Amino acid sequence: MLNIQTLLMAAMAALLPASLEAQAGPQPIPRIVQKDGRYALFVDGAPFLMLGGQVLNSSGWPIMLPKVWTAVENLHANTVEIPVYWEQLEPQPGVFDYSVVDTLLGQAREHHVRLVLLWFGTWKNGSAHYMPLWMKTGPDRYPRVLDADGHPVDSPSPYSKAALDADAMAFVSLMRHLKEADQERTVIMVQVENEPGTWGCVRDYSPAAQKLFEDALPAELLSVPHKDTAGRNTTWQDAFGPDAEVYFHAWSVAHYIGQVAAAGKAEYPLPLYVNAALRDPLLPSPPGSYESGGATDNVLAIWKAAAPAIDLLAPDIYMGDSAHYFKVLDLYRRPDNPLFVPETGISPEYARYFFAALGHGAIGFSPFGIDDSGYVNLALGGPKVNEEPLAQFALNYKAAEPMMRDLARLNFEGKLQAVAEEEKTHTQTMDLGPWKAEVSYGAPVWGARNTPPGNAQPQGRALVAQIGENLFLVTGFFCRIDFQVSDAESGKQREFLRVEEGTYENGVFKPIRIWNGDQTDWGLNFTSSPVVLRVLLGTY
Ligand code: DGJ
Repeated sequence: MLNIQTLLMAAMAALLPASLEAQAGPQPIPRIVQKDGRYALFVDGAPFLMLGGQVLNSSGWPIMLPKVWTAVENLHANTVEIPVYWEQLEPQPGVFDYSVVDTLLGQAREHHVRLVLLWFGTWKNGSAHYMPLWMKTGPDRYPRVLDADGHPVDSPSPYSKAALDADAMAFVSLMRHLKEADQERTVIMVQVENEPGTWGCVRDYSPAAQKLFEDALPAELLSVPHKDTAGRNTTWQDAFGPDAEVYFHAWSVAHYIGQVAAAGKAEYPLPLYVNAALRDPLLPSPPGSYESGGATDNVLAIWKAAAPAIDLLAPDIYMGDSAHYFKVLDLYRRPDNPLFVPETGISPEYARYFFAALGHGAIGFSPFGIDDSGYVNLALGGPKVNEEPLAQFALNYKAAEPMMRDLARLNFEGKLQAVAEEEKTHTQTMDLGPWKAEVSYGAPVWGARNTPPGNAQPQGRALVAQIGENLFLVTGFFCRIDFQVSDAESGKQREFLRVEEGTYENGVFKPIRIWNGDQTDWGLNFTSSPVVLRVLLGTY
C-alpha cells in the first residue's frame, strides 16, 4: 500500500496523454492506494473497479477457456479470477511450465479482460490437494496437521520448512515470469493460496507445534490486544485464554503465507490477497466448527501482524440473507483492510450485493463459478434448474462497465453511496449532506408510494454518487429513488431541475434524452433495464 506522495505521482501519471504514456514504456504496476481511510486499486495509473467473475476450480486449463470467455462476455465482466495450479506449474521439482499461464495471458488480452490469478499452492480449502505429485508422494517431508490424538488431518502442517521453501520457490517463479511476460499488466492482483486453514481440527498438535504453542508469544503479536499476565514471555494460553488455539493456528498459517507472499512480492510487487471461508458473523460458533487458521473475522489482527506482505484479507460470502451479508462487509471493510469480495454465490439473490459492496467502498466483486462447464454447486448458491445464472449479475456489470473508472474514482473520493434491498425493510435512506436520497422497493412506478411492500424476491439495488453541486449520478434496479431536502425545518421542497438519461464514454456523460412527466413526477423508477441518470436538484 502506498502513501500520499506515491498517490500524487500516480495521479500525475494518470494525467499524461495516452501516447506519452505509451512512449514512456510499460504501464505502472497495479497497486492499492489508500487515502483518507478509503482505498482504490490503481490499474494503468488510475482507480479501477473489478467487475469480476471466478471460474470453477478445474476451468483454468486451456481446453476450458472457450467456456470461460463465453461466460465473461455474457457477464460483461472486466476481470476474470482463474486458478494457477501448483501441480501443473511445477511438474518436477524445480522444473517450471509456464505454458498455461502464457495461454491465459494471451487469451485474456484477446478478450480485453484483466486477470486475478489464484495461486492454488500449499492450501486449497484447507487441504493440500494441489501440491505436485512429487510432494504428495513424500508425506514425511511435507507433513499434515496432527489432531489431538496424533492422527493426520487432511490439511498441510504450517510448520514444514520444506513445504514453505518449495511453495515460496514456486510462487517466486510465477511472479518472476509475470514480471517478464506481462508488461501489459493483464494480471492485476494475485491470490496467495485458497481459503487456507484447517477444517475439523483447531490446530496442529504435533510435537513441534506443541513446543511453539508453549513458547512465548511472537513479538509481532504484542500489539494485538491480549491479556499480558507475565509482562513478558506471555504464552499463547496466558494471552488469549479460550481463543489461544485458534489464534495460534491463524498465526502459524498466516506466518507461512506471509513468507510466501513476501518472497513473491520481492520479485514483482503486484497486490496480493488471501481469501477466507467465513465463520458465522452474527452468531459465531466455537473454534473447530469453522475453518481454523483462515482469515476469519476474529483473527484479522493476527493475520495483519503475521503477513504484512498481504495487502488485503477478503471474505468469500456465501450467506444469502442481507443481515449476514452486510455484517461481513462491515467486518472486512477496515481502516487497515481494503474491501474486496473475491467469491460470492451466483444465484440471483446475490446480485444485489454488488451494490452493497460498492456502498462499503469495495474495489471489486466476483460471483463464483461463472462458466457453464457442467458443474453446479447448489449448496453454495449455484443456479437452480431453468434459472439464468448470470442474468442479474450481467445487469449490474452492463450498467457499471462504461463508467467503472468513474465509479472507482468516486468511491475513492468518498462521493458514492449504494445499497441493496433487505428482506424485512423496504425503504432505505442515504445521507448526502444537504440532500437525502430515499430508496423504496416494490412500489408501483406511478403514484404515491405510501408503504412500499418490497419486491417479491429481494433484488432491488440503488446507487447515488455526487458529481457536482446538487448534481448526482443515479442508477439502480427494481427500486424507486427520490430526494428530499435534509433540513426538514427549511420548508423547502426538492425540484428535479433536470433529469438526463445517458451513457458514459471515456469518463464523459453523454445525455441521450431528458426524463420528465410520469418518469419523474413520482420519483425515479428503475426496473430491469440498465439505466444511468444525471440528476440536477433544486428547491422551491
Ligand atoms: C470456496 C473456494 O474458495 C472455491 O475454490 C470453491 O471450492 C468453493 N468454495 C466451493 O464451490
